[in-house]
Amino acid sequence: MNSGHAQRPGVLKRETFVPGWTKGIQRLDTVGSTQEEAKILAEGGAPEGTTVMAEAQTGGRGRMGRKWHSPHGKGIWMSLVLRPNLPLALTPQLTLLAGVAVCTAIREVTGVPAGIKWPNDLLAGGRKICGILLESSLREGGLHYCIAGIGIAANLTEEDYPEELRRIGTSLLIEGGGIPVDRMRLAEAVLEELEYLYRVYLEQGFQPVKQLWESMSVTLGRQVWVNTPQGRTEATAVGLSDNGGLLLRNESGEVVSVLSGEIEMI
Ligand code: BTN
Repeated sequence: MNSGHAQRPGVLKRETFVPGWTKGIQRLDTVGSTQEEAKILAEGGAPEGTTVMAEAQTGGRGRMGRKWHSPHGKGIWMSLVLRPNLPLALTPQLTLLAGVAVCTAIREVTGVPAGIKWPNDLLAGGRKICGILLESSLREGGLHYCIAGIGIAANLTEEDYPEELRRIGTSLLIEGGGIPVDRMRLAEAVLEELEYLYRVYLEQGFQPVKQLWESMSVTLGRQVWVNTPQGRTEATAVGLSDNGGLLLRNESGEVVSVLSGEIEMI
């Protein structure tokens, strides 16, 4: 399986990289949303990498105002503080970076062959095992901090899902043949990957992340439905643009970039 390590170019060497973020994980039992907990810490000046992890969320949230199902003791529900010096327009790159980091950690720790569906869903066996939610806070017109929320369905059984989610959601336990996941070990591996890749990104820009994302994508080369605020169209996903958008070839052969929206694979 391709873990991605072999393709990492660059100056910052994995062998000499010393991770620090895993030391600052704050573990909580039941919260509304770890996004809110991390936001409070960020507002209080918490340093980059500060992470909150909860056993359960009563108000877990996903993209587009959706609810995120977060049962007690079954998943990795965590949020971390990032303080990148970036123009707001480039924050979609961070979502893709987080997807690469989580995908790498899942493959390495569990052996489950996860893949990334643009922009930020991780799939296994055609169903979703992880979602990523990046929320930005602005100050004086610029980026103040970001909260990266990661939800991994680690040890959920089919019965842990409400009926309406069973067709679209799965877990590492289900996809890994019933072997329970050590959630703490996986959470630490995710944070370590994320910290490393984030440093590479700050040092070398988006190119290395883009290459890794493309190698882990289950979207590229596929015929997709694209849902954007402008409407719904059919196209072929052909690559990533330099700012993290999805490049799509439409029916007239023209290549266009979509920065936000959702796709359905046909
Ligand atoms: C999505 O796929 O729509 C994104 C889901 C993100 C869920 C995570 S779980 C930890 C963090 N806290 C939340 O309330 N949401 C994110």
